[in-house]
Formats: sequence, C-alpha cells, structure tokens
Amino acid sequence: MTDHTALTQDELKQRVGQAALQYVVPGEILGVGTGSTVNCFIDALATMKARIPGAVSSSEASSARLRALGIAVLDANEVQRLSVYIDGADEIDGHGCMIKGGGAALTREKIVAALADRFICIADASKRVDVLGRFPLPVEVIPMAVAHLTRRFAALGGVATVRLKDGTPLVTDNGQHILDVRGLAIADPLAFETEVSQWPGVVTVGVFAHQRASICLLGTPEGVRTIDFGS
Ligand code: A5P
Repeated sequence: MTDHTALTQDELKQRVGQAALQYVVPGEILGVGTGSTVNCFIDALATMKARIPGAVSSSEASSARLRALGIAVLDANEVQRLSVYIDGADEIDGHGCMIKGGGAALTREKIVAALADRFICIADASKRVDVLGRFPLPVEVIPMAVAHLTRRFAALGGVATVRLKDGTPLVTDNGQHILDVRGLAIADPLAFETEVSQWPGVVTVGVFAHQRASICLLGTPEGVRTIDFGS
C-alpha cells in the first residue's frame, strides 16, 4: 500500500495535474486555466503535446508556459466550442460552484469556461469548503467604480480592498483592477453571481456558479479523489 501521509501541497497539485491528462481529448483543442495547480498540469501535458492541435488559455502566463513547451496557443475567437476546460480554484463547494481569481485571471477564465462543455477542476483538498467566501472574493472592476462597488459590498457585509502589486493597484491582463472582498458567506452562489454581475462597473465576479465544475479532481493525502457533479 502507498504511504501518502507525507505528501506536500505541491505534491498534491502535481498528482491532480497528472490525473487531469485522462480528460484531454486527443485531436481536440483544449481549454487551459491559470495558477500553480494548472502549471503542474501544463508540465504533465508536455508528455502528450503531439496528440493535441493546441490550446486556448486564460492568461498571458499560461500562454507563455504552453508555448515554451511547444504547444500552440489559439485565440478564443478562433474556436466555437471546447470539449474540456481544465483549471484550478481557490474554493469549491459541494455542488461544484467555485471562487476563482486568486491569480487575477478570472475574466478570461470565465470566458474560456463558457466555451467548454465540461469544466474539470483540479485542486488540493484545502480548497474544498461547505460555503464559499472564506477566501477573499476577487472581483475584476473598472477603476472608476471602485468606491461605489466598495459601498455596495459593504451593504452585503463585505469589506472590499483594491489588490496591490508592488505598492500600486494590480492591473489585470484586461487593463482593469481587482477588488478582494472579505467577510462574505455566499450561501446561494448562483443568485449571488447573477446579482453582482449586473452591478455597473463589475467586469467579472469570481463566483463560478453558472460555469461550475462538472468534475473535481481533489488531491487528498489518500490520493486523487474524483467528484462528479454532473454536467
Ligand atoms: C487564477 O485567477 C485562479 O482562478 C486560479 O485558478 C486559482 O487561484 C487557483 O490557483 P492555484 O492553483 O495557484 O491555487
């Protein structure tokens, strides 16, 4: 029997990255997300790069990593649909709803996820929660709406702060800012996403309920657990 007790978080990410290869459809363009877990997946993907024509990626960082391995990166506008999108999450609940955007790539992630028939979430066990909101909720916003949106989140009991990088507001791949909202308990992710998405100035809210996961490969000390949420 294998002893998993000493696995580090990085090793769990490598295991789910490797396990995700089984969902890659040979001959088809693949959707690829962003983050440290996805980086493990991209590294594993190198072993079967000759079997896929290319990938649509959700960030400049993932695109660069894919290209460095010799995998072609296509623009999202060049594809009509994808069978599979593989990405990580900051939190995932018991229905496959997620918080994403810890890496600031949430807008492109939601776009690529919307192109895909199935979202395969890869995550270590620390990401599994009963109620979304312990992880600060990322929201990509138009900079001139920051103060207004901060007040709207406060009315819901949330404390919003502008994400900084090197002391100044982080600028996303889309030229916008990120609000991180603490103190929320998101009991109804679908309703929350629907509501906040239509607030003026919100580009993308980091709740993925409309684009929830179909499957989660969860890295646990006992091994990779597959959770099927249905499509
Ligand atoms: C990127 O914007 C995020 O949505 C990531 O998918 C999420 O933060 C998970 O990242 P890690 O795999 O690095 O934890």
